[in-house]
Amino acid sequence: MAKPRLLSGDRTTGKLHLGHLAGSLQNRVQLQDEYDTWLLLADVQALTTHYDRPQGLAESVRQIATDYLAAGIDPEKTTLFVQSQIPEIAELTILFSMFVTVSSLRHNPTIKAEAKERGYKDLYYGFLGYPVSQAADIAFCKAQLVPVGEDNVPHVEQARKIVRRFNALYGPVLVEPQVKVGDTPRLSGLDGAGKMSKSRGNAICLDATTAEIHTSLRQARTDPLRLTRFDPGHPDTCTVFSYHEAFRAEEANAIREECQTGRLGCQSCKGLIADGIDHILAPMRDRRREALKHPDRIDEILQAGTSHARAVAAHTMEEVRDVMHMNYFSARLSKGAST
Ligand code: TRP
Repeated sequence: MAKPRLLSGDRTTGKLHLGHLAGSLQNRVQLQDEYDTWLLLADVQALTTHYDRPQGLAESVRQIATDYLAAGIDPEKTTLFVQSQIPEIAELTILFSMFVTVSSLRHNPTIKAEAKERGYKDLYYGFLGYPVSQAADIAFCKAQLVPVGEDNVPHVEQARKIVRRFNALYGPVLVEPQVKVGDTPRLSGLDGAGKMSKSRGNAICLDATTAEIHTSLRQARTDPLRLTRFDPGHPDTCTVFSYHEAFRAEEANAIREECQTGRLGCQSCKGLIADGIDHILAPMRDRRREALKHPDRIDEILQAGTSHARAVAAHTMEEVRDVMHMNYFSARLSKGAST
């Protein structure tokens, strides 16, 4: 029996960091055996916030593809593809947009939160509408499972509604996806001031060297109530402890104990987690070095994945145009094809 299809992806706004690894990447690496896994490099969605600097997209696409390979994504098992190179996604987005209301987009809690965070007053049409485009990402390849972080759940919910509505209006050709929410909470940034994000400068990237990991952790914020080395710590409000939970789960209980009783100081605690993170990133460094030796191969992988995705997209669009009675010329074309 064919494996069920899984789709996930990332906006191409920069390299990936530990937040991506803990939140989704480790999970995708594991699921690629069980599922027909597709990973989308969402460069069009990146334009919703980066429309004024498209020159960075190509590099970001390659960096993220390299991060995927370094993390253990196997192109034999996973289809890697680039969103902007599948024009059918744009086509489907337009067709969906006819029956998606503006208020349903305005009420999307992630759109609201992102607009607030970025200080947007008047919303760009493409930004407000990116959940529609994400629904097209999911629908064109008939993904059955979409694993995402908490913040993307409203988008997958919206995609489910759009697919149901499409099928009811025109005919049952699209597949309603299931959402799978990651069970790890969002990793917080080194400054303890919010989630880890490259644009906030509070991230450890997946290509960090051993020295960079140690430097970043030395500067990381810890429990603000712990004034001296021998004070009892409060691990549940400490960013560094949250990294122990995410990356050294087996040791986390012992660390908690030692912190709460004042036996383990912050510097030593940071050293332990820096070593733990380095241990996780070390095998990724080897795979990255290998991948970077053959940069053409990364492009070949992306091209092969994208052309596979396009073939599937063309097939879905045939079905979509059929049920929408928009296949005006194909019958005539095939009849008159001799000239
Ligand atoms: N919105 C996702 C993110 O924030 C990226 C994305 C775009 C995506 N299209 C998708 C994820 C389709 C899953 C399925 O990174």
